[in-house]
Amino acid sequence: MARHDYSIRPEPRFESGVFIPSAPLPVEADPNNWTLFDNIALLRALIRNPIETTGKLSRQQGCVQGRLFGQEFFTVADPKLLQFIFVKNHDGLKMNNVRQQVLKPLIRSGLIAAEGAEWKRMRHLLTPMFTPRHIRTFSEGMRKTIESEVPTLFKADEELFLTRTMLSLTYEVLSDALFSGEIDGSKDGQIKDFETVLSSMGKPDPFDILKFPAFMPRVTKLSGKRALHRIWGRVGDALEERRRRIVNGSKPPQDFLSLLLTAGDDENAPLTAEEIQDQAVTFIGAGHETTSHGMTWMIYLLSQDVSARDRVEAEIDRLDMDKTPLEDWGKALPLTVACFEEAMRLFPPAPFISRELTKDISFGDRDFKAGDNVLLNLWALHRHYELWENPDGFVPDRFLGENRTKIDRFQYLPFGTGPRVCIGQRFAQQEAVIMAALLLKRFRFEYAGDVPPWPRMRITVQAENGMPMRVLAR
Ligand code: HEM
Repeated sequence: MARHDYSIRPEPRFESGVFIPSAPLPVEADPNNWTLFDNIALLRALIRNPIETTGKLSRQQGCVQGRLFGQEFFTVADPKLLQFIFVKNHDGLKMNNVRQQVLKPLIRSGLIAAEGAEWKRMRHLLTPMFTPRHIRTFSEGMRKTIESEVPTLFKADEELFLTRTMLSLTYEVLSDALFSGEIDGSKDGQIKDFETVLSSMGKPDPFDILKFPAFMPRVTKLSGKRALHRIWGRVGDALEERRRRIVNGSKPPQDFLSLLLTAGDDENAPLTAEEIQDQAVTFIGAGHETTSHGMTWMIYLLSQDVSARDRVEAEIDRLDMDKTPLEDWGKALPLTVACFEEAMRLFPPAPFISRELTKDISFGDRDFKAGDNVLLNLWALHRHYELWENPDGFVPDRFLGENRTKIDRFQYLPFGTGPRVCIGQRFAQQEAVIMAALLLKRFRFEYAGDVPPWPRMRITVQAENGMPMRVLAR
C-alpha cells in the first residue's frame, strides 16, 4: 500500500452546493500493517499536528485497534461503545499518560488534569459557578463586554487576524465574567503568553510518546516555561489583591475568584494558594481558547458559504435585541446556533479525549484490557462516514428541527461526555450566541488569506495562518 503523504492539502471546494473546507486527508494505511517507517512518519505528524494522523479506518469503523511504539490503543467512534466506556465504565478510566505529560506542567492540579479524589473535590467545589441558573446571570455582563470591545477590535474596511481578535474578545468576556476583569492588567501580554505556552508546550514531546522518564528534559517545551511563569505571576497578584480585600472586610465581587478563595465546607477542605492559582489558570486557558476557535471557524465557514451567511444575517436582523431577553436569543436564532454547532463538528475545538483503562471490560465480542489506551477522536467521530451524510461538508441544517433528532447523543460530543464533560459548556454556548448575534449584525467577513486556512491542533484546533479576514460594515 502506498505510504500516506502528509504534505497534501486539499483545496476547499463546493460539491453539489455544499462547501467543503480544506482539511487533512485521512491516513489510508491499516495501523496493523505499519512498517517502522510508517510509525516514524506518524510520530512526526503527531508532534506537528495530531489531527493529521486520523486514520480512514477510524472514520469507517466503530473501533480500530492499533499499536504505536509498543502501546496498544483503540480509536473509538461507535456511539454505543462510547457510552459504554465513558459513561457506564467511567470508574475504570484514568487520564492517558501522554495527555497528562502535556497538561500537567501547564495546569498542575487544575480541574482538567486532576484525577481521583482530588478531581472529585474540585469539581464539587467549582460546580455552583456553572449551574444553568448561575450562567444565565452572566449574560448581561457578556453583552456589555462584547458591545464595548467590538468597536475597538473590529474596524470596517480593515484587515485583521481573526484568531487573535477573537481570542482578545473571548478572553475579555471570560475575564470579566469569572474574574471581574481583575486579571487583565496586561491583556495583550496575557494572550500572547498563552499563545507561546500552547505553541511550545501544547503538543506531545517525542519523549512523552516514547514513555521516557519524566526527569529527562523535554527540550521542545523550554520556550513556553517563561511565559507560563508570567501567567502564574499575574494570576497570583490578582489573587493576593482579592484576598487582601476579603481579609479587610470590603465586599468583594461574587465571582469565580471569590468562590475559589472562600470554597470549602465540612467535607471539602479549602483550596490551597497553589490550587487556587491552578484553577484560575485552567479556567482562563480552557475557557477562552476553545470558544474563540469555534467562533473563528464559524465565521470562516460563513464567509465561504454565502447562502448560509445570508440566512444567518436575515435571522439576526429579525431579532429584536432590545426586547428579547438574552436567555431567549438561542431559541430565536436556531440557524446561528446550528452554524456554531456545525463549525464545532468540522473543527472540534478540543478534539482528542484520551484515557487509559484501569480494568478489563468487554463490549460484545470485543475485550479491552487494563492498560489499553482509548482515544475518543472527535475529528474521526464528527466526520465518520457511516454516521454523517456529507461528513466533510458544511451543512448547518443538519442541526435544525427534525434533522437534529436523528443525531445520536454520543455521535456529536464537542464538549466531551461522562462525568468529565466540559463544566463550561453552557457558558460557552451562551457566549457564542450573544457574540455571533452582536458581531454579525454589524459586520460581514471576507477571507483575506493567500492560501486556505489549515486546521492545526495545539490542544485546541486553530487556523495555522491566524485566519486573515477583511472586515466589511453591513
Ligand atoms: C466551545 C467551547 C468549549 C469546548 C469545545 C470545550 C471542550 C471541552 C472538552 C472536550 C472537555 C473534556 C476533556 C476531557 O474529557 O478530557 C472539556 C473539559 C473542560 N472544560 Fe471545556 N470546552 C469549551 C469551553 C469551556 C469554557 C468556557 C470553560 C470555562 C469557563 C471550560 C472549562 C473546562 C474545564 C475546567 C474542563 C475539565 C472538566 C473536568 O475534567 O471535570 N470549557 N471542555
